[in-house]
Amino acid sequence: MIKKGIILSGGKGTRMSPLTKAVNKQLLPIYDKPLIYYPLSVLMLAKIRDVLIVVNKGQLDQYKKILPDGKNLGIKISYVEQDKPRGLPDAFILGENFIGKSSVSLILGDNFFYGQYLTEKLKSSVKIKNGAKVFLHRVRKPERYGVAKVKNNKIISIKEKPKKFFSDYAITGLYFFDNKVVDYSKKLKPSKRGELEITDLLKKYKAKGKLSADFIGRGGAWLDTGSISDYYKTSNFVSAVENRQGFKVACLEEIAFLNNWITKKNIKDAVKFYGNCEYSIYLKRLIK
Ligand code: TTP
Repeated sequence: MIKKGIILSGGKGTRMSPLTKAVNKQLLPIYDKPLIYYPLSVLMLAKIRDVLIVVNKGQLDQYKKILPDGKNLGIKISYVEQDKPRGLPDAFILGENFIGKSSVSLILGDNFFYGQYLTEKLKSSVKIKNGAKVFLHRVRKPERYGVAKVKNNKIISIKEKPKKFFSDYAITGLYFFDNKVVDYSKKLKPSKRGELEITDLLKKYKAKGKLSADFIGRGGAWLDTGSISDYYKTSNFVSAVENRQGFKVACLEEIAFLNNWITKKNIKDAVKFYGNCEYSIYLKRLIK
């Protein structure tokens, strides 16, 4: 059972400059809460309570203002600084001590997941004992993503940003790995762009026939918030869902409360912390 998760929350945020010059992308709002709440909510829905957040050097204090140590959510949050973006597999090198002998999940700080069956799929994914598992989602422009060909839920081929059509199943930013991931990551060589590549890491598992896949399905949404236009589309999506249904997406305290990790008292403390805002009104309604 995977009980640990890493959120990769650094990065340059080049595509969103100048917004990201002073503030890290994951601290910017997606509608009514910081972007980082969304990937964290995914880990919490998978019942992962031990979380490592990778942040850029110098940005720790900002993060701790909004997500101190996790106690308020009934989880444990620790941090590690990345001095420069060395690529996604760097998470497992920086996180070696955190991971120890465990298996681990990784989610990209700017990825948004939503859908009816998501929680069930997450709960089954954390059960993997050996090998790796990724989530795939059909996209209209596969040339922008790492894509995979699949047979019987096993990945048979992967390509990064293919110029010619290969498959329209993009590999999303949510991964589950056994403990070998640390060793494999350490052995990777930087690519031409000078980063360790997640596709190279996945290929190591694939070569051993140990890379499986699940699909988010057409009823679910996966949105990458990395470009300005996608960022606002995601914000609009959350606004539409929340205002229509009256339920919040990625309300961390709600997830923790429903998981029985925190009490009404914690929710009251959260209301005090957030102050007089819509988020607090929602929290108060939860414990009525
Ligand atoms: P990217 O989208 O590859 O990069 P970025 O967020 O810096 O944006 P841009 O391409 O516009 O410069 O990163 C995906 C996510 O992973 C994002 O949330 C940032 C994070 N990340 C790290 O924390 N460390 C890294 O070394 C890399 C490459 C990414």
